Amino acid sequence: MLFMRYLIPMTQISKSPYKGCRDLFPKLKREQDYLFSKMREVASLYAYEPYDGPMLELVDLYMAKSGEELINEQIYSFKDRGDRFVAIRPEMTPTVARMVAQVHRETPKPIRWYCIPNLMRYERPQKGRLREHWQFNCDIFGGPEVLSEIEILELIKDLLEHFGATNKHFSILINDRAIVNELFSNVLKVDEQTSYKLYKIIDKSKKLPEQKLEVLMDEILSSEQKANLKKYLSLNSFEEVFSFLDIKSPLRDLIEKVQETELLKYLNYDSSIVRGLDYYTGIVFEVFDLHPDNRRAICGGGSYANLLQIFKESPLQGVGFGLGDVTLRDFLITHDLMPDFTQPDDAILVTYQADEFEKRAAQVSRTFRQAGFGVESNLKPIKTSKAFQLAEKKNYSYLILIEGPEIVFKDLVNKKEVRSQTINDEIWEILN
Ligand code: HAM
Repeated sequence: MLFMRYLIPMTQISKSPYKGCRDLFPKLKREQDYLFSKMREVASLYAYEPYDGPMLELVDLYMAKSGEELINEQIYSFKDRGDRFVAIRPEMTPTVARMVAQVHRETPKPIRWYCIPNLMRYERPQKGRLREHWQFNCDIFGGPEVLSEIEILELIKDLLEHFGATNKHFSILINDRAIVNELFSNVLKVDEQTSYKLYKIIDKSKKLPEQKLEVLMDEILSSEQKANLKKYLSLNSFEEVFSFLDIKSPLRDLIEKVQETELLKYLNYDSSIVRGLDYYTGIVFEVFDLHPDNRRAICGGGSYANLLQIFKESPLQGVGFGLGDVTLRDFLITHDLMPDFTQPDDAILVTYQADEFEKRAAQVSRTFRQAGFGVESNLKPIKTSKAFQLAEKKNYSYLILIEGPEIVFKDLVNKKEVRSQTINDEIWEILN
């Protein structure tokens, strides 16, 4: 449709952001920047390199392996002006796989990349679920199985520990699709189509009411199969699952390798973790908040062996995770681990009380900026009492009043004052 100004109805235009999206006002943005800075810090501790990709992709990219729920219910898609069917990225994994497919032949393995994209999913907004969120993604391609998974899990543990969290705050719930596949083919003996349906049932098994779950199982399983599936769903330790399905699996190797490490304290077996996205093939996990007021996943991931094949490339194992900024923020706030970002970092408000001091104020501002401090200049004369009100309203830690030959420096947090003709050592000491 062509844009015609006179056709726009004269209704009130809302000031609110689009449903399920946030306006990131400065305090919220400071909080988000804090999350991002820790993400970048920990990613570089593990030598993951930053990358980024486009916000739009062809829908086909997600059709191949992301799963029915994402395609049918969550994707934002439209036809562009050239009749291409495109989507706003709902996740980053297909994009990173597409990018790795272009360069993996000439890039030394393992390839370790990270990114913090914003993603859009058409969800019913609620606590921990929005339509737009930012998601920290780390993926390792072409590394050895099990050791790659351990590295990814340790990176997540280290990240959350960098925020001050411990195993009292979160748990890593883990499972292995190889084990679930064994259940399907050798215990339940179901075909591929039923297996696909069972994945969806298992994925939802903890969220659905018991009766609904029974109905779904009855639709596709005999009573014996159903009894075996229920037995599987009741398993809740590594010992139990390894004796129920006595096979060699990546999860068994992983648990052996992490004995006597800190990581083991965080790992718990959960038979319902299979992950809703179709591309996972091996170990799968979710990081779960243990606080009773915020029982939800803050991060999810796993290993996927076949994503590069959608580009007709040879298989290259990938392992990775996505950790959302909305869920991470809720997690930190719930556990009182979020620092207070009400105030901008150590910024200084410089004010002057009469036109004749304008130049002096500009010079003082320059000096502080050159020393690396953030300075807001008031840019017009202001009465002393108003300067205090302004500093309080804007949460400044430091206020400078230029009302004569002296500089009056106020440390508003520690209630200290320095009066001096110049910016003296006492002032620098307070600031440092
Ligand atoms: P996912 O489980 O769909 O996995 O999302 C990962 C995390 O992103 C979730 O645990 C949650 O923290 C956050 N998240 C997802 N959707 C929303 C939403 N609507 N609102 C707020 N937060 C949300 C993936 O996306 C995989 N691509 C992750 C991955 C990377 N696997 C391998 N590499």
